[in-house]
Amino acid sequence: MSAESKSRKIIGGEFELCHLPPRNHDDLSVLTHKITGTWTLSGRSALYLVLKELKEEGINHIHLPSYLCESILLVIRSMGFKYDFYPVDMNLCAYPDPPIGSAVLLIHYFGKVNPATEALRAEAGKSFYLIEDASQALLSDWSKNFNNSQYIILSPRKFGPVILGGWCNLPLKNDDANDRVEKVAWQSLAARLIKGQYLKNDSANIEQQTENFYLESLKEVERFLDENPICTYLPAWTKQLIAGYDWGSTSEKRRGNFQLLKKMLSQHVDMLFSEIASKEIPLGFVVRLKKRDWIRMKMAEARIFCPVHWHLPHDVSKQKFPNSHDLSNTVLTIPIDQRYNSTDMEKIAVTLKHLLKHGN
Ligand SMILES: Cc1ncc(COP(=O)(O)O)c(C=O)c1O
Repeated sequence: MSAESKSRKIIGGEFELCHLPPRNHDDLSVLTHKITGTWTLSGRSALYLVLKELKEEGINHIHLPSYLCESILLVIRSMGFKYDFYPVDMNLCAYPDPPIGSAVLLIHYFGKVNPATEALRAEAGKSFYLIEDASQALLSDWSKNFNNSQYIILSPRKFGPVILGGWCNLPLKNDDANDRVEKVAWQSLAARLIKGQYLKNDSANIEQQTENFYLESLKEVERFLDENPICTYLPAWTKQLIAGYDWGSTSEKRRGNFQLLKKMLSQHVDMLFSEIASKEIPLGFVVRLKKRDWIRMKMAEARIFCPVHWHLPHDVSKQKFPNSHDLSNTVLTIPIDQRYNSTDMEKIAVTLKHLLKHGN
């Protein structure tokens, strides 16, 4: 493993770009399923547009899943919304009990359509408003039986080399052009192109300076999004890049890699879910590990970078929501995305099995 870990080959991390996708069409319906809406700077700013509309109707309370990404709270707090949490079980099923006149946020986790969706959609628009977050289920079939009494938000950055972007199903006028956003968009593009060029020769030696440069640049982009959760402007050229990306083969690749890892690892690890339905495109191969943080660190030493979903906000009570804390403490999302092939999946499986065997 040590000789290998000296080469610059990486599995995971932010999406690089090896070349620019064609910008000759504007059709984003593969992601939005022909539903009309607005493209925004980020998933958070898409949520902002939905909440702004609800606020105008007098809604000021949102009922949130106790298993969620803290970044979502940035928008909610900055708009002065009241919020509380509801339980999510170990199968990622939501159990909301929405106060009358509130909004409910439903997350489709890891590419799977939430099992609570059908029942909630049937009630949406009566005593509560339903906002579905399909950021982790971008390429899955979330639009089946979608009706107009729901809201939906997307954040395509999690599924491909998207410079910036979010979407919600409200046909609105977007913010005016903004120089700071243009600058950040170019920064995100440049960092991804540099990473792409650098990784092209993946057996070459590591250049720490180059890695630090693109990592720091992408961190700055994320910082900008964190600090501007209600800025909605998205440059038209970034939208064209999203439209030009090959999303079709992305789906096939992810499903194939998921099945490969399942074959190699299902006897060795506790998979959070082992089945994916025919129209579900997984975000990752999600496992539950007792020594999650140690294994994550060791995987990173082997240059396999796995995100944690999620470190929970402090106000999610451990006593009230033990399942969410259990998920948060044990879940590791292993990359299976379109950049990788069967050799990469094998490297992941060998590395993880080695750590599980020798990690005590
Ligand atoms: C489920 C989910 N929804 C929404 C968001 C926010 O998306 P964005 O980072 O594009 O604002 C995140 C961020 O990680 C997320 O995990």
